[in-house]
Amino acid sequence: MQNFDFYNPTKIVFGTETIARLSKLVPPAARVLLLYGGSSAQKNGTLDEVRAALGAREVQDFGGIEPNPTYETLMRAVEQIRREKLDFLLAVGGGSVIDGTKFIAAAVNFEGDPWSIMESHGRVVKSALPYGSVLTLPATGSEMNNGGVVTRKATMSKLAFSSSHVYPQFSILDPSKTFSLPVRQVANGVADAFTHIVEQYLTYPADGMVQDRFAEGLLQTLIEIGPKAIADPEDYAIRANLMWVATLALNGLIGAGVPQDWATHMIGHELTARYGIDHARTLSIILPSNLQIRRESKHAKLLQYAERVWHLSEGSEEERIDAAIEKTRAFFESLEIKTRLRDYDIGADAIDLLINQLQAHGMTQLGEHKDVTLAVSRRVLEASL
Ligand code: NZQ
Ligand code: ZN
Repeated sequence: MQNFDFYNPTKIVFGTETIARLSKLVPPAARVLLLYGGSSAQKNGTLDEVRAALGAREVQDFGGIEPNPTYETLMRAVEQIRREKLDFLLAVGGGSVIDGTKFIAAAVNFEGDPWSIMESHGRVVKSALPYGSVLTLPATGSEMNNGGVVTRKATMSKLAFSSSHVYPQFSILDPSKTFSLPVRQVANGVADAFTHIVEQYLTYPADGMVQDRFAEGLLQTLIEIGPKAIADPEDYAIRANLMWVATLALNGLIGAGVPQDWATHMIGHELTARYGIDHARTLSIILPSNLQIRRESKHAKLLQYAERVWHLSEGSEEERIDAAIEKTRAFFESLEIKTRLRDYDIGADAIDLLINQLQAHGMTQLGEHKDVTLAVSRRVLEASL
């Protein structure tokens, strides 16, 4: 196991009727900006509960943060905060609203070009406004981590940043607030969390015995509850477990001290930036072919994944690896997520363009061995057609 620091200051408040706790979690004298997406949080009553809990505090609104939040939209919130001298942010929504809030928190007091926060992947961030979140969509883990992804519409760049300054102070996770999610978003959440675990687990053996067992437990839980979460939208126990798995999948715990891949995510981001495909769907397209193309360097972990996650013990090593990759694809398809580029009307002619984007964004040495060059990414994309 490699040396590591593990630090996670986010307080999680989990369960039903927890939104009322905002009255104590938000400082009494805070001047609050309430950030949300489209209409979902209003429609399912979450925003009303949040407003009631905030009571007499000064509260302003910033709605309209879109899925895959854009720099252009987020900078309008930055202006409002500066103009109105607001000092506490409260994100209500899924990963897009929380990620957008992280960027805003870091940009408000940033001197210089705020886009350099994204171009430096967060290295230039020296401070951020305090904020909390109320999560409505289990998927990204953004509610308990220090990462965010922002898209600049003008240049079709979707970049990730992280900084120790942008952990949420607290996140409220009320599983019943996810009952109103459309099937497509539930499926996306399962596939995104699944891929987060795989990115940190399916690399090469590194003596992370606890991390491996923990990751395998989270993957098996998703395999068990994913289809149920789709079939029965109001099963509280299933939604509660989905929410907690998605949080644990990317709060730093399973990735501490072990190698991490993230090539699937980086290639996927280009597909979202260029074609607007949902984040989780890009992962479902790229992950099976990424495992296929890199099966030699991932050989030992693929065998472990086959045996411990999918219980495949018959046949030769190569047959077991084939079967595990096929099971992964079939799992995504069982969630009604299509796993081929052609299913999204994207053909071979797109590949040069996607490779150029990866190059422009510095994504030329990806993966746990930094050996996913543009040539390897090209093979992954070709295998995804
Ligand atoms: O905009 P509204 O009307 O609120 O609708 C949203 C949105 O259309 C809807 N929704 C959310 N909660 C709902 C609901 N609809 C009904 N009932 C509810 N309770 O769901 C739609 C999608 O929301 P979004 O926040 O975009 O989804 P998600 O949580 O999947 O976030 C995706 C974003 O997170 C980034 C992705 O790249 C993408 O931009 N990621 C962030 C990560 C992180 N911070 O660590 C890691 C991930 O790998 C990922 O890259
Ligand atoms: Zn993701």
